[in-house]
Amino acid sequence: MSNEFLTMKKSLPVLGIGLGLRRELAESTFENRDKIDWLEIVPENYMDLGGMARERLETALEAFPLVTHGVNLSVGSVDDLNQDYLKSLKRLLDKIKAPWFSDHLCFTSVGGKYLHDLLPLPCSKEAVKHVVDRIKIVQSYIERPFLVENISYYMSMPGSHMAEVDFLAEILEKADCGLLLDVNNVYVNSINHNFDPYKYLDKLPLSRTVQIHVAGHTHGEEMIIDTHGNPVIEPVFELLDYVLGETTVNAVMLERDQNYPQFSDILAELDQMRSIAGRYQPPLAKPSIAAAATNGFDIEDQAIFTQGKMPGRTLELAG
Ligand SMILES: [Fe+2]
Repeated sequence: MSNEFLTMKKSLPVLGIGLGLRRELAESTFENRDKIDWLEIVPENYMDLGGMARERLETALEAFPLVTHGVNLSVGSVDDLNQDYLKSLKRLLDKIKAPWFSDHLCFTSVGGKYLHDLLPLPCSKEAVKHVVDRIKIVQSYIERPFLVENISYYMSMPGSHMAEVDFLAEILEKADCGLLLDVNNVYVNSINHNFDPYKYLDKLPLSRTVQIHVAGHTHGEEMIIDTHGNPVIEPVFELLDYVLGETTVNAVMLERDQNYPQFSDILAELDQMRSIAGRYQPPLAKPSIAAAATNGFDIEDQAIFTQGKMPGRTLELAG
């Protein structure tokens, strides 16, 4: 199995502690530039768009390092990869000079129709091969490192004959890609499916973690739901603490998507993430300007990001 990704990871910038850019939080986010190191954007909200979306993107790009976290790559689908989508995504990534990009280990489309939900894959050897092949195509076409995120799931898909953690680990290794580790998803799944989240983490190739998601969830009637609509709970911060003690990462961020609190509450959660990061990885916890300088990060010309390109892969999209 190739470990090219792990070598390349060393050349990626350390972005620090970030926040998801959301329309409802944008003004406060921009006003608090000194407390937020970088932003994650949902590319589907900005690809080939003008107007307010373009203005928000330009404002963000002037002040922050940006990376994308998509929802419609549908890397696990049996639909053909959407070439128009990939072209638009690549244009956006080139524009913002993102050091990496990410999406979920799931499928979101069937028969060309988008389902607006992140659906789990059958955890099988057949699905491993299918997803690995597609990740390699995507990564080589985009020419930037790709991170796959562990999703929250509420049922095991029929056809599964592997544990979800083994499925994820095998895909990461065989595709030689990065991990976007969502510690809230690990927690939510551990409660809903009754497993030890620390044993789960110990089975993953954590050294492939480039970015971590931290978020809150909601208690439903029978399960807890990954809503990103409540404060982060202490056991989730403890999982963050554990992972940062196990491996170095390049970025940690907070996902907050609904039931928005006072922005000071969001800043307090970022502070808590920063203090945890500081215990293990001081560069990750440094204030944004200092962190940027440490990384040789130049907001005007983010040329360092091109160092993150995967070398030696020339696959083109078919057609
Ligand atoms: Fe996430």
